[in-house]
Amino acid sequence: MKRLDGKWALVTGSSRGIGQQIAIGLAKRGCHVVLHGRDIAHCEKTRSLIEPLGVDIHAVGGDLRTVQGVDLVIRSVQSVPSPIDILYNNAGFQNTWKPIWAITLDEWLESFQVNFFAMVALCNAFAPAMRERGYGRIINLTSGIKDIPQLAPYSATKAAVDKYTADLAFELRETNVLVNALDPGWLKTDLGGPNADHEVETVLPGALVPALLDDDGPSGRLYAAQDYAMLEGSA
Ligand SMILES: NC(=O)c1ccc[n+]([C@@H]2O[C@H](COP(=O)([O-])OP(=O)(O)OC[C@H]3O[C@@H](n4cnc5c(N)ncnc54)[C@H](OP(=O)(O)O)[C@@H]3O)[C@@H](O)[C@H]2O)c1
Repeated sequence: MKRLDGKWALVTGSSRGIGQQIAIGLAKRGCHVVLHGRDIAHCEKTRSLIEPLGVDIHAVGGDLRTVQGVDLVIRSVQSVPSPIDILYNNAGFQNTWKPIWAITLDEWLESFQVNFFAMVALCNAFAPAMRERGYGRIINLTSGIKDIPQLAPYSATKAAVDKYTADLAFELRETNVLVNALDPGWLKTDLGGPNADHEVETVLPGALVPALLDDDGPSGRLYAAQDYAMLEGSA
């Protein structure tokens, strides 16, 4: 089993849902984790699940809807003594369901701020140091959502994530900073809702694949967590 002993990962939005699973999966491989939620107190449940695994845990709070909140997250993470080796951009928000014509500019902006601009700011903050150290894994959460115009802002942010992931991967080619996207599948979380296809736990072990890539492995790719569902139990 591949290990991540001694590495540090920041998993945004790890207070619940998919991010919580990813943080647990990384910790089971020996990776130290920085947990994140809108409020630091939201991370307590995840912390209690990971503590028995014996890795180091830090928690940071910050609302990604504002530039100040994003800056707070970045400054808080940079105060952790060890550099970030794995940046898992998982935090996400889905706009309120309504006819595409009725979606306001503020709603479009809110979706892009949380799902896209915050991710860009986090990459800008941590990728250059990864390049200097010659190691980094950046994974951005995308979605296979399609033909739901009522959620157009959400879908458009994920299309932007895909494009940005490809461009950043190209920028960081031959640096051993590997940048990939993860489609988790439709999962039963607060965001995915109770009618989703899969339990949240099925994001593992697939979500770990782009974090566990060998040096100079694939970059700019899309990984689908459900493709690895048959490996259930190996997470
Ligand atoms: N569930 C699905 O079916 C599905 C499918 C495709 C892609 N995804 C993507 O997977 C990622 C995780 O989704 P999920 O289903 O796990 O969602 P979730 O259960 O609703 O959890 C969202 C996470 O993001 C954090 N978050 C939300 N808004 C935030 C904000 N303004 N500032 C800071 N943190 C914020 C939450 O923190 P708090 O607890 O503090 O609110 C929470 O940790 C998202 O990027 C989503 O787009 C999900």
